[in-house]
Amino acid sequence: MSYERSVSAPSHELSPETVWHIQMPQIRFGRDATDELAFQLHDLGVDEDAHGLVITDGNLVDIGHVERVQTHLEDAGFAVDVYDESEREPSIAAIENCLDFVHDEKGEAGYDFYVGLGGGSCMDTAKTTRAVIANGGGPLDYIAEPTGEGEPLTESGPPLVLMPTTAGTGAEISPVSILSVEEKEIKEGISSNHVRADAAVLDPTLTTTLPPELTAKTAMDALGHAMEGYTTHEYDSLLRPTDPAERPVYAGRTPLTEMFSEKAIDLLSNNVRKAVHNGDDLEARENMLQGALFGAIAGLTAGASLCHAMAYPVGNKYHTYHGETIAMLTPASTIDYNSASDPKRFASLARRFGVDTTGMTPGEAADALKGEYVQLQRDLNVLPSGLNELAGITEDDVDWLAKQTVETQARLLRCNPRPVVEEDVHDIFVDALHNWEP
Ligand SMILES: [Fe+2]
Repeated sequence: MSYERSVSAPSHELSPETVWHIQMPQIRFGRDATDELAFQLHDLGVDEDAHGLVITDGNLVDIGHVERVQTHLEDAGFAVDVYDESEREPSIAAIENCLDFVHDEKGEAGYDFYVGLGGGSCMDTAKTTRAVIANGGGPLDYIAEPTGEGEPLTESGPPLVLMPTTAGTGAEISPVSILSVEEKEIKEGISSNHVRADAAVLDPTLTTTLPPELTAKTAMDALGHAMEGYTTHEYDSLLRPTDPAERPVYAGRTPLTEMFSEKAIDLLSNNVRKAVHNGDDLEARENMLQGALFGAIAGLTAGASLCHAMAYPVGNKYHTYHGETIAMLTPASTIDYNSASDPKRFASLARRFGVDTTGMTPGEAADALKGEYVQLQRDLNVLPSGLNELAGITEDDVDWLAKQTVETQARLLRCNPRPVVEEDVHDIFVDALHNWEP
């Protein structure tokens, strides 16, 4: 793969990056923040008599969260429809289904506002639906070539507010929506600031209903964002684009993302056991939701990298949960492989996880970090011991996975702090088959 980091490359006219930038939705956080959703919509310019769509799934209808949101909005004077057929890891067909619903109900123009309520899949369905309605055509038009047409989004569309019911994906603030392209067995992202929501309303009381297994899986995704954000390359190791519009959305770590990574790792590593083992612990849930938000602000600005790149082919072929896949891959990729990029940084990451690194070399500290991270997973009692236990993956499957990672995930691999080629990815997959003896 090409590696365009070097500022001493022989023939370029660009200079090193000197500027960083952060773009975020409005963020409203805290217990019963749901009760301020209507205020939030008004603040975004939505009229009193507007007609909106809540995009969610059937499970959240059954739990009662959808009714809570719908009643609140209707009491505030809005007309509200509900689309509750979002699919996990949405396919192109799933998005088209939601687009058909919008067209049938409201024609080409669509609704006056959208609310995405649920986990990452519901929120990504809402993000993609709003973007496609606003820009016309279909989802494949905006997925990067060669899978899609790679057309740029030029419009954001009417206000979109996202409300996560898991503490994990960071979809509520990220500029990316992930779709699976089933016929090609790959996952692809539509990546644009026009995909980003206008506001995120995060209410920990919506997360207490999440069962232990999903709490653990989504938490591992959040922790992955924080760790990848903390250890990715610095923003000024890239080249400065001549046009600021061409600055990538994943642009390296900055002093700001670093602060959020550190706080996220503290919050997540100190609360995940409590949240998994006692889902009603609202304080732990609040800390997890905050940790996931901070992890996303860090990792999904600085950039997810190798671990996420490897997770997408696995998720698409074996239909595993994203966070669980991240959990299986983190020890071999983010920790083992990448620690060579900056051992001292990994030693300080170990200390954030509570490891006493006194007297250790940075390399030993990185090993201790891996031990601590794996122990955390084991303590949660609901996660598999590696890719083999997760989905029956064996060494025979690794060639395909490594090839897919390199061929389809260049967007993420270019953010990795250590150069990586297909042979490396192959070996990391083999390492990740067994993180511990079950
Ligand atoms: Fe993720």
